[in-house]
Amino acid sequence: MKNSKITRKITQGMYILTTEGGGCVVDAVARVSGGENSLIAVAVAKNNHTHTLLQQAEKFGLSILGEQAHPKLIETFGFCSSRDLDKFANLKTQEIEGIKVLEDALGYMIMKKVDAIENDTHTLFIGELIEGDITNESDRPMSYAYYQEHKEDLKKVTTEQGKTAWVCTVCGYVYYGDEVPDDYRCPLCGLGKEYFKKKED
Ligand SMILES: Cc1cc2nc3c(=O)[nH]c(=O)nc-3n(C[C@H](O)[C@H](O)[C@H](O)COP(=O)(O)O)c2cc1C
Repeated sequence: MKNSKITRKITQGMYILTTEGGGCVVDAVARVSGGENSLIAVAVAKNNHTHTLLQQAEKFGLSILGEQAHPKLIETFGFCSSRDLDKFANLKTQEIEGIKVLEDALGYMIMKKVDAIENDTHTLFIGELIEGDITNESDRPMSYAYYQEHKEDLKKVTTEQGKTAWVCTVCGYVYYGDEVPDDYRCPLCGLGKEYFKKKED
């Protein structure tokens, strides 16, 4: 193949897929039919914990990420696994039809799972839209291409230079501030202040 990155030019968005017990970042989402009860398909890798959860689930949700979404959302949901941490800890969510959706999003869709098509590495879960709302009109939807173009800048936002860095000794997450607050919990692994060590230059 000359360049497999050509698939990054397909216009698709960035979403947080959620279901009972967890969720992950997905971009492989398609509206496969329109109308009031649209069919929405999402491809989920079999080695993701979300895949195991979705196999048992009756419903799933998609929170649509905007370009201004906090980069930590992508860090937590796209690079960590619900096998290791509670991704919803310290996050503002609302529960719709029993599914948690993110407040820091343009809106949400809730689907009833109606089909699942399996291949070697992924399953295409197909859901019928049963609820949805637009909750933020002022941001633009984040496209996968935007993410690819800005991912280095998005990472920089989370490194807030100029402040003392406190590193979680278990997962490596860095908290920036003069002191780690007493009630602070690591957003990645959920552990408390006592697990953070000041980063020495
Ligand atoms: C930009 C981006 C796009 C992603 N798109 C998908 C996707 O479409 N399908 C998928 O299964 N995983 C996708 N992932 C990977 C999962 O979000 C990631 O493996 C996650 O850590 C799985 O978490 P889990 O084990 O809790 O399910 C994407 C990750 C990123 C950063």
